[in-house]
Amino acid sequence: MFSVYEVIKKKRDGAALSKEEIEFMISGFVKGDIPDYQISAFLMAIYFSDMTAEETTVLTECMVDSGDRVDLSGIKGFKVDKHSTGGVGDTTSLVLNPLVAACGGIVAKMTGRGLGHTGGTIDKLESIPGFSCSLPMEKFVENVNKIHIALIGQTAKLAPADKKIYALRDGTATVDSIPLIVGSIMSKKLAAGANGIVLDVKTGSGAFMETYEDAAKLAKAMVDVGELAGRRMVALVTSMEEPLGFAIGNAIEVKEAIATLNGHGPKDLEDLCVELGANMLIISGIAANIEDGKTRMKKAIADGSGLKKLKEMVEAQGGDPASIDNTDMLPRAKEEVAVASDRDGYVQKINALEVGLAANALGAGRAKQDDIVDPGVGIYLKKKVGDEVKKGEALAIFHYSDKVKFESAKKRFVAAYTIGSEKVPSPKFFYGKADKNGIVKM
Ligand code: URA
Ligand code: CA
Repeated sequence: MFSVYEVIKKKRDGAALSKEEIEFMISGFVKGDIPDYQISAFLMAIYFSDMTAEETTVLTECMVDSGDRVDLSGIKGFKVDKHSTGGVGDTTSLVLNPLVAACGGIVAKMTGRGLGHTGGTIDKLESIPGFSCSLPMEKFVENVNKIHIALIGQTAKLAPADKKIYALRDGTATVDSIPLIVGSIMSKKLAAGANGIVLDVKTGSGAFMETYEDAAKLAKAMVDVGELAGRRMVALVTSMEEPLGFAIGNAIEVKEAIATLNGHGPKDLEDLCVELGANMLIISGIAANIEDGKTRMKKAIADGSGLKKLKEMVEAQGGDPASIDNTDMLPRAKEEVAVASDRDGYVQKINALEVGLAANALGAGRAKQDDIVDPGVGIYLKKKVGDEVKKGEALAIFHYSDKVKFESAKKRFVAAYTIGSEKVPSPKFFYGKADKNGIVKM
């Protein structure tokens, strides 16, 4: 038997812990045998003394073992998943997953609802009339075997240790610790059962890793843990310096996804999907290299097979595929109004986090778990970083249903824009790529 005190002290003094010591701490906490104050001190010791890749992997596996593992053994082939550390207007999943499935990849994805400034894929998809992510597990397996893609809401209890630990981190200034973030994210991903995972680690004003250096460290740490746990891993570090694409909301992001699958989506969104998808196809053993992967992804846009796959998925999950061809069938807000610039100049910066919070203020997202999302509302950007703007010209179109919410969202939104007299280049988008061999700048 270990002493809690001794394990805390050992980590405090910078030593690496054994597998048994980490298991003792995490399972003791989950069972309620170790009190909050000692785990809080333990988390702070990790914050200052860091963990090796092996320690972080043990921590992650212990967190996985606190809950269920999704059993994907009924699904044939290599299951590939993608995870983003959270962005604003991040329409990627809706575009990427159908494209990857159209290219032969196998997408059996457990996904979540939105909370805070980032939207949830389920909320977005459920704006499609009839569509549901509440599938019985057997139906989920059947759909993936038949059409290579299904999205299911998180039903299983994945890594409940994370919730408990996160609550302490939140109150003890230990959220931004790399091993603790890795344990939190990767425990849920490993429990979800995929054989390979491509991570999109965001950096910039809308991300919780604001600098490239921190994001790169996090990316490499997640790759190492995933590989040590027997998964094939790639992580990209990409920009969240401004919202992704133009649409931030639910139905309007579905529309943006459909446009992208039709080949006329925003360039940043399309490029990101092509790059992530190419890596998913490589780890799935489908694409030979990055060029081959990108060519396959672009072809699935050009020949309409990605869009067809989205329709198949919508239909298989109770949605009306006609609404993909005729987007007027998607929910719409009562009002659409332009929010204009009050000066001439160039857009120099857009605070993505604030734009996300403005969209939430319209009703597109949740502040609390049980808030109700309004599927029709959102913000459609007309100006992004680097664009010239004239006084009176629209910065964005607001889709809203409630005048009071509109006014407060508008105030927040306008303050998120920095408009100055000098033109700036549009921000760099791809920063780096990590795999088991290391991290390279892009
Ligand atoms: N997202 C998570 O799920 N956990 C973290 O610790 C940080 C981001
Ligand atoms: Ca978007």
